Amino acid sequence: MTGGYYSIEQVFHVKAGDFASAGEASSQIKKILKQLGIDSTLVRRVSIAAYEAEMNLVIHSVGGELKLKVTPQSIVVTAEDKGPGIPDIDLAMQEGYSTAPEIARELGFGAGMGLPNIKRCADRLNIQSKVGEGTLLEIYFDIKAR
Ligand SMILES: Nc1ncnc2c1ncn2[C@@H]1O[C@H](COP(=O)(O)OP(=O)(O)O)[C@@H](O)[C@H]1O
Ligand SMILES: [Mg+2]
Repeated sequence: MTGGYYSIEQVFHVKAGDFASAGEASSQIKKILKQLGIDSTLVRRVSIAAYEAEMNLVIHSVGGELKLKVTPQSIVVTAEDKGPGIPDIDLAMQEGYSTAPEIARELGFGAGMGLPNIKRCADRLNIQSKVGEGTLLEIYFDIKAR
């Protein structure tokens, strides 16, 4: 953890194809946000987005990092990997579009709703991707003053 009061940053490593521990990083994120006293509706939105981003790292990437950054004003979840990248981001964002392999589909993944769900949950979403280089997802949530 870095920073001062109520500012944290935590990094989770997510392994490709590791369905046994898939979901652990996003449940840690949920736990941390609850402990910080974040509003439960916001915790739910962040947790859904973080889970979908984590599963995409497991299913579609060579593995990567899921990062949580919390300040008094905002929550940012980033998912970063080093490949294979997304050839057509607009297509990937469409509901129902999925390139998930059979092994993931057998486990119930591959509905093609992950990225649309992330977008729906977030206040802002930034996706950068380059084939052969990797993908960066930045998911922003505003914390409103209570
Ligand atoms: N980190 C990633 N690396 C490479 N491709 C990705 C990544 N995340 C998503 N994709 C691509 O975007 C598609 C849509 O993702 P998503 O909406 O989460 O659906 P699903 O995971 O069910 O396939 C995936 O099928 C895949 O082709
Ligand atoms: Mg997905």
